[in-house]
Amino acid sequence: MSTAPRTVIITGGSRGLGAGIVQSFLDSGDRVASCSRSETDQTRKWAEEFPDRFFFMEADIADRPQCTAFVKEVLARWKSVDILVNNAGVARDGIHALFSDEDTDTVIDLNLKATFHISKQIVRNMLAHGGGSIVNISSITGLTGYRGLAVYGASKAGLDGFTRALAREVGSRKITVNSIASGYLRTEMSHGLDEDQLNQIVRRTPAGRLGEPDDIARAVQFLVDEKNNWITGQTIVIDGGLTC
Ligand SMILES: NC(=O)c1ccc[n+]([C@@H]2O[C@H](COP(=O)([O-])OP(=O)(O)OC[C@H]3O[C@@H](n4cnc5c(N)ncnc54)[C@H](OP(=O)(O)O)[C@@H]3O)[C@@H](O)[C@H]2O)c1
Repeated sequence: MSTAPRTVIITGGSRGLGAGIVQSFLDSGDRVASCSRSETDQTRKWAEEFPDRFFFMEADIADRPQCTAFVKEVLARWKSVDILVNNAGVARDGIHALFSDEDTDTVIDLNLKATFHISKQIVRNMLAHGGGSIVNISSITGLTGYRGLAVYGASKAGLDGFTRALAREVGSRKITVNSIASGYLRTEMSHGLDEDQLNQIVRRTPAGRLGEPDDIARAVQFLVDEKNNWITGQTIVIDGGLTC
């Protein structure tokens, strides 16, 4: 358990990687706020188990008023935010020549514009109360590219660029900003890949397996540890060695 509980926002914490990150901060004794468009059995269970340390709100953060309402609720409860994990993300696949404008908007509105919007609000709060940490959940597809994921990969490369620029802006104000370029995880998002693609990824991965949410959650904990505040503006690749 940490000595003083930190206040942490994790977007998209209802399942998948986000749920693994929520669990990790609840395990370390912190206060956690999360949102997604729908609650799940897991979010209901946490709300019962940790009524004072877990807050969940149904909100589509790609919708600016809903995103702002979520931040307002968190600040009304806990006043300041120490850690923001921009985890909510969406992938749409398809060859680019046939990719729909709707899918482009869905990916960019959530992976980039929603991240910019919530980060702006939380950075203002961090500036006012003396510091904090932001971790953006990116992807190795933003570094290497992946056939059929051009827009998604571009959104994650954009997130890494946002990470570096924001780190330069707020570094002197005791705020660190980093991103984690995750490899392929065993979550609903990777259900878009077929068995052959998953087997090929595992064969090419030195560690010989897909990632689990906890592989990434541990790295998030490392990056937000106050002792590691000399690490900022970085994209840390965690992928079982796939891109090495
Ligand atoms: N899975 C992988 O292999 C992989 C690899 C590299 C990077 N990543 C990144 O890791 C992050 C998490 O991915 P995941 O695999 O855990 O995905 P996931 O299983 O699809 O979970 C996504 C989470 O985000 C929430 N969400 C989606 N749209 C939202 C919106 N508009 N507003 C608020 N919440 C929203 C979802 O809940 P609702 O649907 O109820 O809103 C859910 O809680 C993403 O940024 C993804 O790009 C994943």
